[in-house]
Amino acid sequence: MEFNDVILKRRSYRSYLTKEIEEDKLNEILKAGMHAPVATGSYEKLRIVVLKDEKLLKLRELLVKNLGKDPTYNSPTLVMIYHKGDNNDLANLDAGCVGENIMLKAKNEGLGSVMIYCVKRFFNEFDELKPYLKSDEFNFMVSIALGYVDDQTTRDVSHKIEVIE
Ligand SMILES: Cc1cc2nc3c(=O)[nH]c(=O)nc-3n(C[C@H](O)[C@H](O)[C@H](O)COP(=O)(O)O)c2cc1C
Repeated sequence: MEFNDVILKRRSYRSYLTKEIEEDKLNEILKAGMHAPVATGSYEKLRIVVLKDEKLLKLRELLVKNLGKDPTYNSPTLVMIYHKGDNNDLANLDAGCVGENIMLKAKNEGLGSVMIYCVKRFFNEFDELKPYLKSDEFNFMVSIALGYVDDQTTRDVSHKIEVIE
């Protein structure tokens, strides 16, 4: 895909087919995440956890049990980004950079994505979900739903950011 198309046509999708992502595609997408810029080059502070099949089903069951809904849009894959150490600005910025690379590469591979932050609130709120806040000593930052898109409809947003020159 043309670079400009990847940038301009990436959107957040919130409806997915159950079709699994091919392993080679998923690996390419994760590799893109690993090539994101990270503060001070401290890549060892980041960890990507890929949830699919039974592991993702378990998380979804707990989300639905506690919230009455699935905020991860039933995607076949959920990429969870964790960061070691202080949950500070740099940790959030690093996770954002890794996440954006993942979403852009997904677009290039013909897949849809959406960054999902709201689950962090639910992980904090419900005891059964608290284990997802940690992966060993790494702290949960943000997740990304990935998959083949069922419905191409996206929310109407303007993509205008004020620029002052
Ligand atoms: C840091 C961050 C957190 C987000 N969290 C959520 C979320 O929890 N749930 C959701 O449906 N979308 C979430 N989004 C997606 C945004 O709503 C979306 O990117 C924005 O509305 C622009 O639309 P677009 O991605 O289709 O261009 C998040 C996006 C970012 C960058």
